[in-house]
Amino acid sequence: MTRHLLTGTELTRSDLLAVLRRAAALKADPALGRDSLAGRSVALIFQKPSTRTRISMEVGISELGAHPLLLRPDEMQLSRGESVKDTARILSRHVHAVGIRTNADALLEELADEGAIPVINLLTDGHHPCQVVADLLTLQEAFPERLGADGGFEDLHLAYVGDGNNVARSIALVGAIAGLRVTVVAPDGYQLDPDETTATLASDPRTGVAGADCLYADVWVSMGDTDSDARRTALAPYQVDDALLDAAAPGAIALHCLPAHPGEEITADVLYGDRQRIWDQAENRRHAQKALLEWALQAGPFAAEPAGA
Ligand code: CP
Ligand code: NVA
Repeated sequence: MTRHLLTGTELTRSDLLAVLRRAAALKADPALGRDSLAGRSVALIFQKPSTRTRISMEVGISELGAHPLLLRPDEMQLSRGESVKDTARILSRHVHAVGIRTNADALLEELADEGAIPVINLLTDGHHPCQVVADLLTLQEAFPERLGADGGFEDLHLAYVGDGNNVARSIALVGAIAGLRVTVVAPDGYQLDPDETTATLASDPRTGVAGADCLYADVWVSMGDTDSDARRTALAPYQVDDALLDAAAPGAIALHCLPAHPGEEITADVLYGDRQRIWDQAENRRHAQKALLEWALQAGPFAAEPAGA
């Protein structure tokens, strides 16, 4: 069966914990996995801007011995009206997987339905699963003594503070698979739908972050959002600063998926201070995605058959 990563819920708990173990191993030993995707090609399509995802995917694919094809959407026939269905068919005849950043989740689903290769979500309006696997790897590194016997996150509590967006939704969804307790602290009108999440939903920042081991920030104005003034006003009380970290659990860390806007959703003191793991988190995108690519393509430790069988 083709292994897609559209929302992250395609990963079972044991898959996800195995991906995290593999990501940690790939990070610890740069020689590991060097040929695990030898002879494969992976297409990358970005219909929205990207710094981290593009760099980490392109380098990560190369490090696994595969060939990354960066396809500019404005240079593809998609931009002149060729259908997603036909694009999926063509990609499936030439490459082994496709990673795509786009607006509508429906486009990603169509690509997956019409093609015969794994589709990896590199951010949509609804989800950002690759980000969250890197976030979990970062939490694992920050709190190794708090992990369960199987690497589960049951003893950890993350409070996402700000806009209940794609990143918030993915942390709640994928975090829950790993056992992470998640609270989303957001104002009315910017909160996740209680029917779609098992996360605790809160609106007061100080009480919402009580007991959290990690405060997580994201931009107040995501790509595609047009109501930026209203957002900045509504979200102003939701800045992650040192005082909010003080209201969390002792030893709490700050994470941010980046790009950051210091002075808005996070202060410069936190972004560049000693209570953050944000820059490690950004590096972990590559290690996490390498493990996810091996999982999707059933290579490395995820191979259906032992190597050489
Ligand atoms: N965090 C993240 O996805 O960053 P980019 O938008 O730069 O890829
Ligand atoms: N929520 C942000 C994440 C950027 C990585 C956006 O969608 O723009």
